[in-house]
Amino acid sequence: MRPLLFPLEALIYGPPYAGLMNLIRSPKPLEAEPTWELITGDKPLAYELVCGHWPLRPLRWPLLRAKMKQDHVLGIAAHYDVSNDFYELFLDKKYMFYTCADFNREEDTLEDAQQNKADFILNLIDPQPNDKILELGCGWGSMLRRIHQHTGDKENLFGLTLSKEQVAYNEKHNGFQVEFDNFITRDYQPEFYDKIYSIGAWEHVRPKEVAPLAKKLYAALKPGGRLVNHFFCRLPEHLFATTICSQIYFPGSIGSPYRDIVKAFEGAGFRIAQRTIHDYRPTLRAWFDNLVANRERALEIVDVHTYNRYLTFFPVSWRYFNDGLGMLVRWVLEKP
Ligand SMILES: C[S@@+](CC[C@H](N)C(=O)[O-])C[C@H]1O[C@@H](n2cnc3c(N)ncnc32)[C@H](O)[C@@H]1O
Repeated sequence: MRPLLFPLEALIYGPPYAGLMNLIRSPKPLEAEPTWELITGDKPLAYELVCGHWPLRPLRWPLLRAKMKQDHVLGIAAHYDVSNDFYELFLDKKYMFYTCADFNREEDTLEDAQQNKADFILNLIDPQPNDKILELGCGWGSMLRRIHQHTGDKENLFGLTLSKEQVAYNEKHNGFQVEFDNFITRDYQPEFYDKIYSIGAWEHVRPKEVAPLAKKLYAALKPGGRLVNHFFCRLPEHLFATTICSQIYFPGSIGSPYRDIVKAFEGAGFRIAQRTIHDYRPTLRAWFDNLVANRERALEIVDVHTYNRYLTFFPVSWRYFNDGLGMLVRWVLEKP
């Protein structure tokens, strides 16, 4: 079956998609360095040319649209509900952040880098006593924990996630008010929050949802409130050929071009008060190395195809940033 699927998928979706699916379907765990090299290394020009044009431009949206018919919520849950024990094998031990860290010095470990990021974002949020603060897509409660360390206030910290495993983890370890709910479709009480922030969840907001959600969040903030958003987005305006590969890892999700996100937030009334750009690549490599170092344990927790999916996910994402197709941005948006 596997040898048959490869040419079929290459014809429909292009060689990168077919190649990745072929690797993931391998009955054996993938070898670390050859996989990293294969995905991130330079390819012959002829191969790059084919990949750059396949699927053909007029077919990209129809193919993606067909993939995006998959339930968006189930797609997100499928990624995050793999197993908390599995994520613990490669994320930083202190916070379990599943987002880009700040490797400020060459000798920084993943733990140092996630602490740097947490401190950086704390500064952007600038939490004050009794501020009502909401995190959109709160993961394992990492940033909520950092805010709590700073303010000592648990009552006013809220989080939303689409992962049942993360809700359970938060209940067990953190005790913040974390709800299983979709931050895109839910209703918000007007002018309720002082601060809203999101770290690595905006990537799941599909293009047509961006502007309506920006308006909803604007209305949910008190006057003078702020929204902090750490997200990555597509730099080219057009859909590039390998966008389809993201469906392997996040079925039903597709990001928006940077320009459209700016237009949506400014159109909702926000003022962009601060903006910085960060490098995701060292974090992706650190997660890859941690997963490889814990390969035996990982294979006791998940099946070989899940292991292979993550082992390809990190180099694929590394390449996306290395090729300048995506950009990791942190914004402070103010509501006047
Ligand atoms: C990459 S993780 C980041 C988690 C956390 N912010 C961190 O820094 O580690 C993305 C999170 O967003 C959540 N998420 C994505 N789309 C969502 C939606 N529409 N509604 C609620 N949560 C969502 C996922 O469940 C997950 O918790």
